[in-house]
Amino acid sequence: MTGDDPLEESEDGTPLPDGGAAGADGEGSKVPRADGGAVDDVALDPWGSSSVSDYRKLFEEFGIEEFDEVLEEVPNPHYLMRRGVIFGHRDYRPVAEAMREDEPAAVLSGFMPTGDPHIGHKLVFDEIIWHQQQGADAYGLIADLEAHAARGMSWEEIDEHARSYLLSLLALGFDPEEGTLYRQSENREVQDLAFELGAEANFSEFQSIYGFDGETDVSHMQSVVTQMADILYPQLEEPKPTVIPVGPDQDPHVRLARDLAERMRFFKVSKAYASFELEPDERALVVELYERLEPEEFDDDTLRCTHVAEALAETPLSDLETDADTLSSVLTKLEEAGMEPIRPRTRFFDRRATDDAFEALIDAIDGEKRVYENHVDAFDIDLAEAEELAREVEVDNGGYGFRPPSSIYHRFMTGLTGGKMSSSIPASHISLLDDPEEGYDKVKSATTGGRETAEEQREKGGKADECPVYELYAYLLSGDDDEFAKLVYDECVGGERLCGDCKEQAAELMREFLADHQEKRAEVEGLLEEAEIELESSRRR
Ligand code: TRP
Ligand code: SF4
Repeated sequence: MTGDDPLEESEDGTPLPDGGAAGADGEGSKVPRADGGAVDDVALDPWGSSSVSDYRKLFEEFGIEEFDEVLEEVPNPHYLMRRGVIFGHRDYRPVAEAMREDEPAAVLSGFMPTGDPHIGHKLVFDEIIWHQQQGADAYGLIADLEAHAARGMSWEEIDEHARSYLLSLLALGFDPEEGTLYRQSENREVQDLAFELGAEANFSEFQSIYGFDGETDVSHMQSVVTQMADILYPQLEEPKPTVIPVGPDQDPHVRLARDLAERMRFFKVSKAYASFELEPDERALVVELYERLEPEEFDDDTLRCTHVAEALAETPLSDLETDADTLSSVLTKLEEAGMEPIRPRTRFFDRRATDDAFEALIDAIDGEKRVYENHVDAFDIDLAEAEELAREVEVDNGGYGFRPPSSIYHRFMTGLTGGKMSSSIPASHISLLDDPEEGYDKVKSATTGGRETAEEQREKGGKADECPVYELYAYLLSGDDDEFAKLVYDECVGGERLCGDCKEQAAELMREFLADHQEKRAEVEGLLEEAEIELESSRRR
């Protein structure tokens, strides 16, 4: 998604709501957080006022990838995916592949019970449920420790809201018998894992990621390691591709969790060319050189480190895709290795393996291998096989073998009153608990992307991309019906649809949705009582 063209369309031509991305007015419109908090134009901040004034920045600055690029690999993509509401991801491919191949996969997300669940949370509920329906192990958790520590919620308030979130999740179709529901405070395994993960993270890191300082209370920090444990919890029994559906404000958590997953590994698998270690930049340079030189041209047909060093020394820097520092460090390494042959190999680097695990790894490697003090080089297995093998050995020998968790990101919804959707402005959002009539009224009084007069609208068409009402159609009211969403869009921008009728239709659909949802909430009360989740906190007030 480029965001350049206000009328951008997804692959199948379904119009995309602009979702509040920076408008052509260059003013960088404010985007609301999924939890209704305010958002501003700063770096992503899970608790503060982070904003996404321009979704493109997330790709460029934070390395989030565009969802459109994996869409084709996803089996029966959800409408939120098809319509670009889910706009970004990190490393979603392994999850899509596992679902396609009927292999183990998991989905997990968490909710801070700070208020009533609203239509922004519904996006995440739907994402969890959809993955569950595609065969993933599904987890929904109540972030009660975080709500208590970071938002100062009392346990009483937490219990009340937690129950409400869970009812909506079940009412929308989460299967509690297949899936897992838990609250952070009651999950001993999560707490134990959090403790272990905490040993791999330190305060300066929290400082730079979250802006924590000397005033930050310790429980808040504990809630961070708890979230890290939440994210890795689905892999405790067995490593598997896991997706965390969240708003982009949670990306700092995802990045840290991906990092910690790696730090907990016994082994790091990489490609190597000789006995020495290479940094990624250095490796790229060696590969470049290796591919230019023909081993046959050398005495005894063997390409040796010193040959590559000579060739490298003769090549002007401008002919190489590297910088002077990398060049000189690679030269030094090659010269020191001298007559050692250059041969591609797969390296298992020992990060923190036990002696037994290291021995077991050596035994498990088939074909030619060479054992060093801190690594083993294998010459007959490729990178993917090696990853698999390392993970197996690790799990069999008391390690975790975590895969880096994946994530998908959805756009935040625009407030019904324009600007931000905020829980402190009831008219700006629709709670899943709103009386259906109230929901109807809120939609009826919503701002639109309509023109001054009906005449002008007929002539120029409405601005669906800037219209919170259109967003409601695209994110929620059209459900799975892409044709209906497209019809509303086309009629709007084509000037055939006027805002009065359009809002009436949307308001009726919203009334229907709320009535239906609330009826279902009542029906799943029993299911919730049976579910294995503690509904009442035993904590002191
Ligand atoms: N921090 C999340 C929020 O602000 C809640 C949360 C806790 C969560 N643990 C999680 C989200 C694990 C995703 C995955 O709402
Ligand atoms: Fe929005 Fe509907 Fe008006 Fe178009 S016609 S601007 S979609 S309310």
